[in-house]
Amino acid sequence: MCFRLQITMTEFDAMKENLTEYGQEHLLKYWEELSEDQRCLLTKDIEELNLEEVNEFFARATSSLAEENLKLDDKMEPVREEQYLSISTTDKKQLERYNEKGLEQIADNKVGVLLMAGGQGTRLGFAFPKGMFNVGLPSNKSLFRIQAERILKLQRLAHDLTGKSGRIAWYIMTSEHTMYPTKKYFEENNYFGLSPDDILMFEQGSLPCYDFEGKILLDQKYHVAKAPDGNGGLYRALRDRGILDDMERRGVSYLHAHSVDNILTKVADPVFVGYCAEQNADCAAKVVEKSHPNEAVGVVCQVDGKYQVVEYSEITQHTAELQKPNGKLVFNAGNICNHLFTSDFLRKIGSTFEKELKLHVAKKKIPFVDETGTRCNPEKPNGIKIEKFVFDVFQFAEHFVTVEVPRDEEFSALKNADSAGKDCASTARADIYRLHRKYIEAAGGTVEGTECEISPLLSYAGENLEAVVHGQIFSSPVHLMAQGECSDISNTE
Ligand code: UTP
Repeated sequence: MCFRLQITMTEFDAMKENLTEYGQEHLLKYWEELSEDQRCLLTKDIEELNLEEVNEFFARATSSLAEENLKLDDKMEPVREEQYLSISTTDKKQLERYNEKGLEQIADNKVGVLLMAGGQGTRLGFAFPKGMFNVGLPSNKSLFRIQAERILKLQRLAHDLTGKSGRIAWYIMTSEHTMYPTKKYFEENNYFGLSPDDILMFEQGSLPCYDFEGKILLDQKYHVAKAPDGNGGLYRALRDRGILDDMERRGVSYLHAHSVDNILTKVADPVFVGYCAEQNADCAAKVVEKSHPNEAVGVVCQVDGKYQVVEYSEITQHTAELQKPNGKLVFNAGNICNHLFTSDFLRKIGSTFEKELKLHVAKKKIPFVDETGTRCNPEKPNGIKIEKFVFDVFQFAEHFVTVEVPRDEEFSALKNADSAGKDCASTARADIYRLHRKYIEAAGGTVEGTECEISPLLSYAGENLEAVVHGQIFSSPVHLMAQGECSDISNTE
């Protein structure tokens, strides 16, 4: 639907002049062929572009391409020990103290969750937002539902501990393509039992796609090719969409930001919150130990004394293989897109540092309208998308900390279709089964067979299961639910 009736000649001339000034006048190449409606659509797209900024972004982003092959080995140091907590080597009582501290923050309405759900999920090849994906657990729960139920359960645990009914604000970052279906899905599912007042969806920004010379591509003769500006677009969106103000109104001090596609994410993890609160950290990252030197994950480390994520391609094999005396890798802290920020830190980023965020270039196959006016689906990369990354703010932290979590308890990403054999629905299911079996066994129960799922409404992270499972033998498929929980979830979810 178009926003105006007609574009006048004067408006057209002004638009053309402006585009010419920035070398983007080719966007009007098919103007004569367009209907009045299509002209309006194209005008709207063009008016939304800040051409000066868009050209500057291209220049900045591509200048960093020259540095792509530079190795950072000589400048790198691992995270300092006093800023590193390893969950598996920390005393249980200490972890319980962090847990309680985190639950107290939740009870006081101080904790929010930022779900990064604006990605295009191209590798998974699912036609809907990734959060709607059902990996095929006995419950048929989607990623969104699992995360919602973890939030619900935490609110209950915080209430049990403190007697206070604190609520977790859930901010869901979507993009042009994921906003509408996400909204509809939450409405249709009654917000999974959460209060709609506590769920705020907002759209991240987008950037145009370019050819290799910096010319903006047309996706249709009347439509500019655009893509979300990366998960690091969250800082700008939090500021511009009023989310920082909403956090201030609610008194939210800590924001747990995580990706949508890790089925094991401990949403609003009270241990993470409690530890960061105790450390007075303003910015934090959860990491997992790298599984082997060549695992293609970025590592959290210091470069010239500042924290950042160094991609696998930025270090030599020699550095990737370096070991400590205990045999562990020196650069071991695998980044998993799971962070905690204070609201003050986010304000500081929004007001001062957002414009300095690194612009990353991804060479992609971008559908486009060619010289002859034909829409093409290229078979090899024909242009670039520019993305900002959520982790590029570590360098601005005053007190950065890292929490190493056990991979089998907290990290299983859904990136690919099953045919890839890794980071797919089958591995996500298997990882849930393994972890939930471990919880049942730790509470004195036995599971026969493989399929085993515990509802988040019954237990957030394996707690309070003894009364339900001790001394009991369960046969697969096991699906333990909370009292009164409905098992009838449509498998179309
Ligand atoms: P990925 O980089 O893995 O991208 O995102 P993706 O969209 O899920 O999948 P591919 O690469 O297209 O196959 C990591 C997290 O960041 C979010 C994603 O939704 C996911 O939770 N993200 C990514 C955004 O929120 N916005 C973006 O622009 C990009």
